[in-house]
Amino acid sequence: MEQASVKLQIHDISLSFGGIRALQAVSFSVRRGEILAVIGPNGAGKTSLINSITGFYRPDAGAIIFDGRDITHLPPYKRAQLGISRTFQNIALYTNMTTLDNLMAARHIHMRSNMLTGALFWGPAQREEIEHRRVVEEIIDFLEMEAIRKTTVGSLSYGLRKRVELGRALALEPTLLLLDEPMAGMNVEEKEDMARFILDIHERQGMTIMLIEHDMGLVMDISDRVVALDFGCKIAEGTPDEIKNDERVIKAYLGQVQ
Ligand SMILES: Nc1ncnc2c1ncn2[C@@H]1O[C@H](COP(=O)(O)OP(=O)(O)O)[C@@H](O)[C@H]1O
Ligand SMILES: [Mg+2]
Repeated sequence: MEQASVKLQIHDISLSFGGIRALQAVSFSVRRGEILAVIGPNGAGKTSLINSITGFYRPDAGAIIFDGRDITHLPPYKRAQLGISRTFQNIALYTNMTTLDNLMAARHIHMRSNMLTGALFWGPAQREEIEHRRVVEEIIDFLEMEAIRKTTVGSLSYGLRKRVELGRALALEPTLLLLDEPMAGMNVEEKEDMARFILDIHERQGMTIMLIEHDMGLVMDISDRVVALDFGCKIAEGTPDEIKNDERVIKAYLGQVQ
């Protein structure tokens, strides 16, 4: 594959916790501008993969190349600054704060490169704050969150909290979005909304998205390609149609207790 068309390259990464081999020599690429789904039974290593890409986990072996740059040894905040942003399988928001403040906090925490300047000069700090506010207001508009902008996140429905979390990930203005089961636990209507927002982000911003999802129907509907994991190993990679008919994938899923 031509290097320019590769957004993220996972090269032979392995990760163990004691005797548990969460990832075993996993390699694949995420192409620029695609939606890649990662599927696999519980415990297959999907979240560990996202944690390795964001730098929260350090693989024992292998390399991670982002936009042609080796980021294997960079700390999480540097990866975030380079454009990698994620949502969590279990929502991780400030529940006592409003939607607006959660999004603003994301920018303040991850983008304080000018903190010192900001503290010394009123002008630049003010300009930076206005820019943060502009980006956040755009996201609130885009994700149709006007009605909940001043609502405390803890009092929102599960589906809306997931949407705020997506907003928070977008507030970092990423070029690679990692979504860990963004639709899990949602009702049908919430799932449809979330799928629509993911597709909109992809289409309007040309965002590269890696998405972990259990619902095979949804995966088939929204992803360009699929990687399947089982017991930490990549067992298949291909188009949704190829994956749907792959013997090892079918077997891995049939063996799963739902
Ligand atoms: N921080 C951790 N400490 C110990 N074991 C872990 C940790 N994170 C993941 N694991 C183990 O690694 C394996 C893969 O987990 P995970 O990546 O969460 O799978 P998935 O997201 O596909 O369900 C599981 O056996 C899990 O128990
Ligand atoms: Mg997981």
